[in-house]
Amino acid sequence: TFPKQVKIVEVGARDGLQNEKTIVPTPIKIKLIDMLSEAGLPVIEATSFVSPKWVPQMADNAEVLKGIRKFPGISYPVLTPNIKGFQAAVAAGAEEVSVFGAASEQFTRKNTNCSIDESLQRSDEILRAARAAGIPVRGYVSCVLGCPYEGKISPAKVAEVAKKMYSMGCYEISLGDTIGVGTPGVMKDMLSAVMREVPVAALAVHCHDTYGQALANTLMALQAQGSRDRPALEGESERLTAGHLAFTLVKMGVSVVDSSVAGLGGCPYAQGASGNLATEDLVYMLSGLGIHTGVNLQKLLEAGAFICQALNRKTCSKVAQATCKL
Ligand code: HMG
Ligand code: MG
Repeated sequence: TFPKQVKIVEVGARDGLQNEKTIVPTPIKIKLIDMLSEAGLPVIEATSFVSPKWVPQMADNAEVLKGIRKFPGISYPVLTPNIKGFQAAVAAGAEEVSVFGAASEQFTRKNTNCSIDESLQRSDEILRAARAAGIPVRGYVSCVLGCPYEGKISPAKVAEVAKKMYSMGCYEISLGDTIGVGTPGVMKDMLSAVMREVPVAALAVHCHDTYGQALANTLMALQAQGSRDRPALEGESERLTAGHLAFTLVKMGVSVVDSSVAGLGGCPYAQGASGNLATEDLVYMLSGLGIHTGVNLQKLLEAGAFICQALNRKTCSKVAQATCKL
């Protein structure tokens, strides 16, 4: 069974544009985000408050965040790697932030110049400040299905990092196949390990499409079933008590999916990674399954066409390619 409704987290303006060789002019970024808001995406990641020496593509973060139209009911989270980034984000008007870590030591070092433990400490510092300011925090775990430096990553390691981020107070954990190497079977194994530690309602998947598996991996996540033989976790509904053990029936799969308009995306510190799952393709599939997203596909296609024209590149969305030929 599938969830009745899926929340799409649109990451094109951040994950997509952080990876473009040319720096996209700020007004183009603002127009893209406004068009995505018009299309009805409920969450639109706007930019990141990372070091401009590391990712110059996001150096105009404050201008972007201040320049966009903030639609009621839509959230515009931004990435923050440390307390300096968090403070700058709040000063620019951020009402939600995301912290990011990984299940790989080497990727964490390349991406944020620290160990996994140090990265978790930085996240914890942000979470404390965010709690005091009433700001919700999302957490990313990268390299959940493979790492460009370490290769295979064990599901147990992913579960350990996801659990730590959830316990620190992240309301949602987005599991990233950063380099798009996973296949549905590996996704299923990883998710069943993570679901033993974090309630499925607090999980999201974030698939890059390097090997053309993003849509299949996402579909697997929507169908994933949590384990029955473990204590109930907070937020899970059906709880059957047998003796001193609580058994939980998790009927629903993951219902939050990250994707990127026109399939833009990649990480500058994950060589060879290609774009994210295209939002147009995700919306088309979900609509075919009768799953509600609230997204207007036509307006989304227009946003995709706009950014592809501005970047002078072809869309990676199959739906966009197909519909422009019709
Ligand atoms: P560092 O060089 O170790 O930082 O970088 P530092 O604390 O030593 O500071 C060095 C300089 O940077 C100082 O400036 C700081 O003030 C400045 P200086 O005194 O030399 O003039 N600085 C900052 N400036 C602005 N904003 C900040 C900030 N912090 C320090 N927040 C750091 C450490 C974490 C900052 C750096 O490694 C960094 O910015 N990394 C971000 C890399 C990144 O953005 N990667 C892509 C996002 S993650 C991703 O794409 C994966 C995801 O999509 C999920 C998936 O696909 O799996 C989320
Ligand atoms: Mg990504």
